[in-house]
Amino acid sequence: MKVSVSILSSSIKASDITKKLDMSLADYIHLDIMDGKFVENKTWTFSEVKKIISYSNLPLDVHLMVKDPLKYLEDYALLNTSYFTFHYEAVSDISKTINKIKDYGLKVGVSICPDTSIDVLFPYLKDIDQVLVMSVVPGKSGQSFIDSSLSKIRDLKAEIEKNNYKTIISVDGGINNETGVLCKESGADMLVSASYIHKDIINNVKILKEI
Ligand code: DX5
Ligand code: ZN
Repeated sequence: MKVSVSILSSSIKASDITKKLDMSLADYIHLDIMDGKFVENKTWTFSEVKKIISYSNLPLDVHLMVKDPLKYLEDYALLNTSYFTFHYEAVSDISKTINKIKDYGLKVGVSICPDTSIDVLFPYLKDIDQVLVMSVVPGKSGQSFIDSSLSKIRDLKAEIEKNNYKTIISVDGGINNETGVLCKESGADMLVSASYIHKDIINNVKILKEI
């Protein structure tokens, strides 16, 4: 299982997490960027991000919970960004947004909120590298996993396999050793986790990797 570590925490400094990540088996740093508009909270400025990630060599899995994701593209293309993930609910022209991200040489991620039905993404799947299924309402860490996310993952997996697409399925929110197993059984390829991993970074990354 691929593991992407979210550094969003209300109690631990983000840089104290990134300082430890390269000693773990983590695949990505999951960067939750919030603008105070698409969601209530705000996270780091770009210069704060640069400092926070400077302690790690891991590639970035950038999750933009913002109204205008393309505004961030030029900045994040300068970093070691693999996935640039925007919210389906945030933009009006999905295809245009996907193409712009590709123009910058980044992998395209599209995230979907718990209340949005998964089939809205089906027409775009052939151009999407990662679907980030939100298993909590976006905005903060430490919430409980929403069980109905599992049927979304199953439906999405079936559509990807039916068409032989290369899209991977990531799941974000309330992931731990138990919900992680359920996600895997439903078809997930990558788990995103903050609060569960922060309790014991090295060990809990390893547990999720081994799912
Ligand atoms: C929520 C963020 C998540 C969050 C996950 O809006 O997108 O990445 O940090 O936190 P946990 O794993 O604590 O649910
Ligand atoms: Zn996230």
